[in-house]
Formats: sequence, structure tokens, C-alpha cells
Amino acid sequence: MSDQCRIIAIANQKGGVGKTTSAINLAAALAEKGLKTLLVDLDPQGNASTGLGIETEQRDVTTYDLLFGDVGVSDAVKSTSIDRLFVCPANADLASADIQLMDNEDRMTILRSALRTPQGSGDFDYILIDCPPSLSLLTLNALVAADSVLVPLQSEFFALEGLSQLMLTVREVRQAANSALRIEGIVLTMYDKRNNLSQLVENDARKTLGELVFATIIPRNVRVSEAPSFALPVLQYDPNSRGSEAYRALATEMTQRHAAVLKVSA
Ligand SMILES: Nc1ncnc2c1ncn2[C@@H]1O[C@H](COP(=O)(O)OP(=O)(O)O)[C@@H](O)[C@H]1O
Ligand SMILES: [Mg+2]
Repeated sequence: MSDQCRIIAIANQKGGVGKTTSAINLAAALAEKGLKTLLVDLDPQGNASTGLGIETEQRDVTTYDLLFGDVGVSDAVKSTSIDRLFVCPANADLASADIQLMDNEDRMTILRSALRTPQGSGDFDYILIDCPPSLSLLTLNALVAADSVLVPLQSEFFALEGLSQLMLTVREVRQAANSALRIEGIVLTMYDKRNNLSQLVENDARKTLGELVFATIIPRNVRVSEAPSFALPVLQYDPNSRGSEAYRALATEMTQRHAAVLKVSA
């Protein structure tokens, strides 16, 4: 794979916290910046594929085939309405993946092997992986394949509760299969500044997690939730919405951190 390619798993075992929304729109924002980006849909629900306009009948080759078939990434990727943004789609086939993986010797590393080859990651600058809402073998595969994990945190009561379990899993993955796995950051999603609870969750997150929490916050914004039914990232559906601005800011914050790291290590 190319030296510059960064693989980021977007994970949180809670459903409905903004994983897929963040995967789609962060990927779109990176592509807008001129970075060639692949979104790997690793959720049997296939919401990321739908949100990027890949209809079910177009999903002839999917993430399932990438894991279990004799196909490479280039066979599975589809282009999207955004230049430089590609998706490896998923469908319900992936629902049986966890059971199939259990009997596989390479059950933890199969996605890593598929992505971390010159043919696999091609000339992508970023590969984002949209994880299912569980700490299943699929999610473990994403964490083993990734350079880092980005965690969307819904600005709601109990938001921090599931986080310790995820962090424990990250530690286990580091010990077992991917010692280089980093935490990319925690991003607060669906933030409502009129709601005191959002503020409380933010304070709590920044106090306990410090620098790991992105400065950029994703607001609750109706345009963000409407966009998938038009099969578009919100960045295209309503480019000037607050949601679009926020995802652009998140992409900028993340790429600037990466550039700073490159400078230090150069
Ligand atoms: N910033 C936001 N503003 C408004 N609605 C949002 C926002 N982010 C996500 N949603 C909505 O919340 C629901 C869950 O988001 P989703 O990204 O599918 O979560 P997950 O992938 O973690 O299950 C979806 O209906 C989505 O449209
Ligand atoms: Mg999802």
C-alpha cells in the first residue's frame, strides 16, 4: 500500500451515534480537499452504501466478497457523485460474516490482508471503514486493519458509558494483532447547543479524554439527516448547511494533525 495511505476505522458499539453519517461526510470532505478516499462499508445494513447512492442491485461485488471471495479492492469499488470518493459497498450477505469468520484461522486479519496490499489500498490517501454497531469480529477486523480508530460520541446521556469497553477492546487489539493502533479521536455528534445536556456531555468528555476529543463538534442539523434519502452526502445535498461546514472543519482538523505528525517525524 502507499506510504501515505491512512486507514481509519469509525467505531462505537452503540447504534445510532453517527458512525455512518460521519463516515460518509468525513470521506466526502476529504475527497473535496483533493484527497482520494475510499469508504469501506462493513455494516450488513449497508447504510453507507445507500447514503452514497449505490443501489442494492448495483452491489454485485461487495465487502463480503473482499473478505471471503477471490476479489481485490479494485474489483469491488464504485465511484460516487463526488470526485475522488469511492465506496466498497455492503449488503445483507455480510450478516453471516461473523459466523463464517469464527471458523477461519485468519479470523482477525482477513480485512487487513485485503486492504494492506499494493493492489488493495491502491493510491488512496484515506480509507475509512464504517463499522457495525457491535464489538463483533467484523469490528475487530476493522481495528486490526486500521492505523487508527475514530469514535463518534452522541451528545446524550450515558454517552461515555460504552466508551470504556471500546477502549478495552482497542487495548486488546494492540496486544493481540495491531500494536500500532492509535485513537484518532473522539468526535461529538448531534450536538444541540440549546440543550444543557450536550454541554454537560462535552465538559465530561473533555475532562476525562482531554486532547483525544476533537475541537470540532458536529451539530444536530436536519439537513444532515435528510441527505441520505437523496443518496447524497450533506456536503452535496446542502453544501452551506451547518452540518456540511462541521464535517469540512473536522476533515481540516484531522488532516492538519496528520501533517504536523509527518513534519515531526521527517
Ligand atoms: N448531525 C446530525 N444531525 C441530525 N441527525 C443526525 C446527525 N448525525 C446523524 N443523524 C441521524 O441519526 C441517525 C443515526 O445516525 P447513523 O450515522 O446512522 O448512526 P450509526 O451509524 O452510528 O448507527 C440517522 O437517522 C442519522 O440521519
Ligand atoms: Mg451505521
